[in-house]
Amino acid sequence: MRVLFIFIALLLSIELNASDIDNSSGLIKSSGWEHVRAQCGGCHSYSLVISQRADRNTWLDIIRWMQKTQNLWQFRPEIEVQIIDYLAINYPPKPNRRRPPILPSLMPISTDKVQ
Ligand code: HEC
Repeated sequence: MRVLFIFIALLLSIELNASDIDNSSGLIKSSGWEHVRAQCGGCHSYSLVISQRADRNTWLDIIRWMQKTQNLWQFRPEIEVQIIDYLAINYPPKPNRRRPPILPSLMPISTDKVQ
């Protein structure tokens, strides 16, 4: 019985998580997402937005760059702040996932001479 309950709870949570993503744009549905859906999908796909990770300042830089060079329009300040908040909260910088270099002591002993 308990196992069944856990199973159902798990299914429900998967279902809830799935509905947190907008099917058509792929955007995370959280505060401010409708502005991003309305303003950020006209010139390129939303996947360009989603695949980018940045802090607030960098998101702002990206928007300013598009405004200067790509004909992106100006936003009303109260809309812009919601867009930047949304982007910085939902698409923050990723921690560096690269592994550190292998210690020299753990490297195989090379028999080749490097020319
Ligand atoms: C008026 C057209 C237009 C709109 C609207 C627009 N963009 Fe862009 N954006 C561009 C163009 C053009 C590029 C460059 C595309 C490329 O390099 O292929 C771009 C590139 C980007 C990039 C990639 C930047 C990089 O350094 O590679 C991101 C991220 C981005 N846009 C996010 C957004 C967000 C967020 C919004 C909404 C606030 C938005 N865009 C709205 C035109 C637009």
